Amino acid sequence: MQTLTEIKSQTQTDAFPILGTDFIEFYVGNAKQAAHYYQTAFGFELIAYKGPETGNREFCSYVLKQNKIRFVLTSSLFPDHEINKHFQKHGDGVKVLALWVEDAKSSYETALSRGAESAFEPIKLQDEHGEVILAGIKTYGETIHTLVERKNYSGIFLPGFVKKESLLKSVSTGLNYVDHCVGNVELGQMNRWVKFYQDVLGFKLLITFDDKDISTEFTALMSKVVSNGNGYIKFPINEPAEGRKKSQIEEYIDFYHGAGVQHIAIETDNILKTVDQLRKNGVDFLYVPDNYYDTVMDRVGHIDENIEEVKRLNILVDRDEDGYLLQIFTKPVQDRPTVFFEIIQRRGAKSFGKGNFKALFEAIEREQELRGNL
Ligand code: FE2
Repeated sequence: MQTLTEIKSQTQTDAFPILGTDFIEFYVGNAKQAAHYYQTAFGFELIAYKGPETGNREFCSYVLKQNKIRFVLTSSLFPDHEINKHFQKHGDGVKVLALWVEDAKSSYETALSRGAESAFEPIKLQDEHGEVILAGIKTYGETIHTLVERKNYSGIFLPGFVKKESLLKSVSTGLNYVDHCVGNVELGQMNRWVKFYQDVLGFKLLITFDDKDISTEFTALMSKVVSNGNGYIKFPINEPAEGRKKSQIEEYIDFYHGAGVQHIAIETDNILKTVDQLRKNGVDFLYVPDNYYDTVMDRVGHIDENIEEVKRLNILVDRDEDGYLLQIFTKPVQDRPTVFFEIIQRRGAKSFGKGNFKALFEAIEREQELRGNL
């Protein structure tokens, strides 16, 4: 009945080396207040800033950091600015998934020669801390990948940014690094974007989920996961599938007005502690009914965590051939039902929680129904 196909690549096929996720930039309506939210709710620390006070008269950007994760929150100061147009159309959303590379110019040229569309040509930014080279390629919707070469830079973030500390003393919630970033694309577009990552970046297809894997009584979606050679970058791509009611992917596309980033999964090495703190900080998670826990241990077997705590915090558990994982999903972090976060702890498992899809999607459907979008 289940049709999971895992394709294990024998060779490294990357078009160019990617060292990791460099930063994720959100275009938002009010970066100043969003920065406060990510500090108080998620425990990020404000480290850098760019705006009129630093000589940048078009927009403000706040850089937040927690362990290896860097978020940039940006708002425009002018109604006709492209940042504001992006915000008007999409609401708060992810504009840039930045990739840390060895050589931005040659990576950019390689990507273009393999079929990528340019978002912007290589530029060198300099200040007293050295230089950074950036270049951009387009991906689904209006999202871009900025290629970041920072080996000759020792500053706080990028040239043009100044150190900034918050008056608020934020407390880390134990979020470590970006595990995967998921894109939602329009009906019939999933294979096109999977092919883009294979052709342009040399990524391999890791897993395919069809609509039989990911369906409930009412709705369905399809998903394929691509990954780079070292596995640091994993991009699942979702598209809606025919169901009796409206797919959550369609709801996203309707409200985002196009393809875009659906969720960012962030790793923690102590999910019980992390989620307990996030809940105390007011982060709102999807609710899975208690009966989920009636059968979960039969399905996943022994776990080291206290199951009563797992249940109290409403965390989901799944197992694959390599181990198990614990995960939980926030509700959308803006009024539009678009971007949300996943918190994940891997105990060996390399997969994405397929055993939880049904419970998860039923939880999403309950929210869709409340919004009148099912
Ligand atoms: Fe995920």
